[in-house]
Amino acid sequence: MADKRRFELFAQFVTQQFPEARRVFDIAGGMGKLNEALTARGLLATTFDKRWKHADVRYAERLFTLDEPCECDAVVGMHPDGATRIIVEYAAKHGVGFAIVPCCSDNGMPYKPWMRHLAELGGQLGLDVAEAALDMQGRSRVLVGRPKVAISAPDLPLVGH
Ligand SMILES: C[S@@+](CC[C@H](N)C(=O)[O-])C[C@H]1O[C@@H](n2cnc3c(N)ncnc32)[C@H](O)[C@@H]1O
Repeated sequence: MADKRRFELFAQFVTQQFPEARRVFDIAGGMGKLNEALTARGLLATTFDKRWKHADVRYAERLFTLDEPCECDAVVGMHPDGATRIIVEYAAKHGVGFAIVPCCSDNGMPYKPWMRHLAELGGQLGLDVAEAALDMQGRSRVLVGRPKVAISAPDLPLVGH
């Protein structure tokens, strides 16, 4: 049984991690409870899932794909099942941050290797990925990623002139 506090805890985490974000895509958001918690914190959240019965929130009643136009500053997912990998790929494609609380893999991989795989995937796609944990029961580990900051080399003094 998933922890009922997960939406509040994750919404708090998202606002702390991405204080500059105004528009958030909530992927595999089920009934829209995370959306409610994000909206209560002043964010414009859009949930993607295929539940016809859901909370009265901005809700795109369809499966999320990489083709979705990017109208967000960050993309997040709580226990997003088959959408987990897509969230990481989408964040990399569009240069936005992501935060996910993975549960099951999309290919039968056990939990720990799946977490490692997702973190490595983010790194390979040009994201800095870190791991954190929410103070809740069940799958509580969070992977949070953001585009690597390109640091330009400073002008070097000319030597020998
Ligand atoms: C375990 S439920 C979690 C729902 C909700 N986030 C929660 O914590 O209660 C996984 C959800 O992922 C959704 N899902 C799976 N693949 C998806 C995709 N590509 N786009 C949107 N939703 C997806 C399913 O429809 C399902 O509602």
